Parts: sequence; structure tokens; C-alpha cells
Amino acid sequence: MVTDTRIIVALDLATAEDAVRLAKRVAPHVGAFKVGLGLLHGAGPGVATALVDLGKPVFADAKLHDIPSQVGAAAHRLGRLGVRWITAHVSGGGAMLRAAVEGLGESSNGFAGILGVTVLTSLEQTDLTTLGMANTPGKMVSKMSRVADQSGCEGIVCSPQELAVVAAVAPSLLKVTPGVRPEGSATGDQRRVMTPTEAMERGADWLVVGRPITGAADPVSAAQAIAAEAKIPD
Ligand code: C5P
Repeated sequence: MVTDTRIIVALDLATAEDAVRLAKRVAPHVGAFKVGLGLLHGAGPGVATALVDLGKPVFADAKLHDIPSQVGAAAHRLGRLGVRWITAHVSGGGAMLRAAVEGLGESSNGFAGILGVTVLTSLEQTDLTTLGMANTPGKMVSKMSRVADQSGCEGIVCSPQELAVVAAVAPSLLKVTPGVRPEGSATGDQRRVMTPTEAMERGADWLVVGRPITGAADPVSAAQAIAAEAKIPD
């Protein structure tokens, strides 16, 4: 059994009961649980508390993005759930991130931290160009990492392809990486992907893995195999 794994399993399932059931099954092979927008808005934020009760760090991927006062209020509310991390979009700007950091810090008594979401791993250069964003994902992540760092974020969510950029610009930020796919596995809607081994070699602190585990015929074996690639280096 691998107990020191850096896998955060994204429990993107239909109901809170499904999420908690799967979390219990894969718990021996993962380091943390993530609850995303589908469940936070469907089952409600109480699902996060049910996962906290299982004894591993919980990541509420709330992807906050609004004016600072609203994001501060939402972060304050989420901080009472006992979660370890919540996310806010860096594109909301420095004042919004600082409001999130402050609200979360206050209600969690400093236990929880904000992870800044940079450029979604489902987006490619062409998507950015269509939106009027002229910079490459790498350049955007570089600028966003600096803002997240200066705004008090604990870490950053980025594609495995941008890990080196984050390390260069803001070395103290925790690097959390979705878009991870084992060799031969379906990419789904993810675009800027890498294998677990490559992502760890490039300096990821945590790997977020959803469908390669939750959609596997045998999620426990899938989690075990991916976890073996994501041990904490000695
Ligand atoms: O199923 P899959 O492994 O693609 O799941 C990745 C998870 O990471 C999803 O829950 C998604 O919301 C999240 N995520 C992402 N890209 C980001 C931030 C979070 O894919 N930039």
C-alpha cells in the first residue's frame, strides 16, 4: 500500500453518497479528496464536510470568480467546512484573491489556503486567441503566478506543462496539477496533459486525477497504479 501518495482524487460523481463511497474505497491509495463544482452546487457544500470526516485533506474546488466582497464572503463560508484548500480564479485579480485569502483565513483560523487557478487545462492556445488573449498559456501562467504569490495564495493550479514556469516565478507556491493522464488513457476534455510520472518529475507537489480513477472499471486498482507513480520523493 502506498500511503505517502500525492494524488488528489477528483470525486466528480453524481451524488454525495457516490462520492463518499468511492472516497472510502480509494482512500488507502490517495493523499487527498477533491470536490468540484458539480457536487458543491448539486449535493451542496455539506459533501465537503462528509469527506473531511474521512480524515484526509479536502480540496473544495469552488473556482471563485466575482467582485472581491462576494468572493471574500464565499471563501469565509467555505472555510467553516474544515476543508484544507479552496480555489479562486487568478483572472479575478489581486484584490479579489486577497479578499479570498482574508475570508478563508479568518473562518478557518489559518488552517486553509487559497489555490489560484491559472489557465484551465482544457484550454489550448487557439481558445485563448479566440477570447482575445494574445499571450501563450505559459506567459499567462507566469504572470498569474506572480499575482497569486503577491496576493497571499498558498499555491497554484496549473497544467503540468507550466510547472517550470511557476517554479521560476514563484518558487514558494504549492503546485497542484490537473490534466494528468496515465499512458494510453482517454484525455476527455483535457488538452494540456501529461503522465503522472512526468508531472512529478517536473516538480508537481500534488496531482489531481479524476476520470482515470472514477471512470475506471476498477477504481481501486487504477488509484493504486497511479499512486505508485506519484510517491513523495525521498
Ligand atoms: O477527470 P479529470 O482527471 O480530467 O479531472 C480533473 C479535475 O481537475 C476536474 O475536477 C477539474 O474540475 C479540475 N481542474 C482542471 N483544470 C484546472 C483546474 C481544475 O481540470 N485548471
